Amino acid sequence: MIVLVTLTSPKLEPALPWATEPLSSTVLDLLACRPPQRSFTPVSLPLADTDPYGLDLHLALYTSYELHYRGFAGVDPRWEWNPVLLAVRSQLEDVFLEALRRDVGDIEPDATAAAEMDALCVEPVDGTGPSYFLRDKGTWEQMQEYFVHRSLYHLKEGDPHAWAIPRLTGQAKASFVAIEYDEFGGGRGSQVHQQLFADLMEAAGLDSTYLGYIDHVSAESLASVNLMSMFGLHREFRGAAVGHFAATEITSSPGSRRLVEALTRMGAPDACVRFYAEHVEADAVHEQVVRTDVVGDLVATEPHVDRDVVFGIRAMDFIEGRLADHLMAYWTLGKSSLRRPLA
Ligand SMILES: [Fe+2]
Ligand SMILES: [Fe+2]
Repeated sequence: MIVLVTLTSPKLEPALPWATEPLSSTVLDLLACRPPQRSFTPVSLPLADTDPYGLDLHLALYTSYELHYRGFAGVDPRWEWNPVLLAVRSQLEDVFLEALRRDVGDIEPDATAAAEMDALCVEPVDGTGPSYFLRDKGTWEQMQEYFVHRSLYHLKEGDPHAWAIPRLTGQAKASFVAIEYDEFGGGRGSQVHQQLFADLMEAAGLDSTYLGYIDHVSAESLASVNLMSMFGLHREFRGAAVGHFAATEITSSPGSRRLVEALTRMGAPDACVRFYAEHVEADAVHEQVVRTDVVGDLVATEPHVDRDVVFGIRAMDFIEGRLADHLMAYWTLGKSSLRRPLA
């Protein structure tokens, strides 16, 4: 008898998160089994009274999406395209998307991505939010919390947006890939931004393991990455994915500058400063490329996508705003914004 053993690398495939009830436990219970290959009995989720931005839904959704990235140690990779799990994921997405559309609001008929990006470029003189707080009076412990929240995204930085590449053509595709090439280190593994963030985590005395803090972060942090995954994994949202990408690039440089100032004030290790300093420089260039050559070219060749790009920009702003509000609500009270303390 031949026994097939699937070898998994703990460095590559993360550990499963701890479930909360009842949605994430449903997903985790499924993943604990072998995926069915012939009979696909639908699983109905208990979605009544579900908070569309709550921890349980976003942990369940994050776990479902992660199968398209690195999967999980000990979980059969065939779950990625299993109809039972995809149907579960679809129910979760419907709840999230319905709330998102309601809260973002209707996109006006004359709204344009160009005007939306112009508005993003205007930085308020007396801005508020985590990067301002950290620059002016945040503590090193709060900065470490910020790293932990952001670790879910930055340790897979570039990946969620990369799903959009096959859905683009011409100059928009070429310029999108040019930006992603920088995110992925310009051909040098040590310079991949994911690696630069892992270096930052190590230098800050934190765990650089991929998804190492999934059981620490809030629902808002999970939702921030889920939004990118949802846009990227559905071709119908390719305009929104590009809008999210554009908003990320446009807002990165000034926010990164404030974090460099914060880290310098705190006397943080060089690797911590370096990650954000790199984004001050690179994203100032990326901003120009994404505005003109990615979004500009996309909406010129496909004008019907223009308002989808606006939706992606506004959705990003809304979801990132929720995370910022979460952090500030806890920090201004002198409390930890994490679900469990750092070891
Ligand atoms: Fe980056
Ligand atoms: Fe960038």
